[in-house]
Amino acid sequence: MSVKSFITGIPDIADMDADKERENILDFCDIGRDILTHPRYEEMKGYNHHGEISCHFHTLFVSYITYKACCHTDCNTVEATRAAMLHDFYLYDWHITKHDELHAYYHPKEARKNAEHYFGKLTDLQTDMILSHMWPMHLMPPKSKEGMILTAADKICASLDFMGLSNKFMPIYERINEVVSCYENN
Ligand SMILES: [Fe+2]
Ligand SMILES: [Fe+2]
Repeated sequence: MSVKSFITGIPDIADMDADKERENILDFCDIGRDILTHPRYEEMKGYNHHGEISCHFHTLFVSYITYKACCHTDCNTVEATRAAMLHDFYLYDWHITKHDELHAYYHPKEARKNAEHYFGKLTDLQTDMILSHMWPMHLMPPKSKEGMILTAADKICASLDFMGLSNKFMPIYERINEVVSCYENN
């Protein structure tokens, strides 16, 4: 795997084993099937996150990188991938809806609350991953390798969003949506 593909979590064309990638996408979707097919999760398609990038796209980009990175380590891939899918599950447009606290500090708590409301109790690992994902903007560093991977993936994707380079993820995003549609039609 090249440095570039490690950073983005997506294989370069030269590295790409299309069958393996399709297998990874199916495994990723199976891990979060209940989350990905939930109407409140799909609602994130309507919330702008960074510029034109929706919260749904961003969250799946971050989750897929987290999934790929965890697969290459001894991390808990299932718990980490599900936590990553829910890290920005705050369900409002932060450009419009304002709270007493700044969005950067408020939204991880809202995401955790919504995650437990719709998908049941989170583990301690997942709770910490979601609450700490904005580190170092706040003073609560992640306590786990999974949490460090999530916060790094979040920064990488946000940077790519702002640079207009997130389209690299579009083919995988579209494939994930196809798999989710198949779940919903069966
Ligand atoms: Fe966030
Ligand atoms: Fe995020």
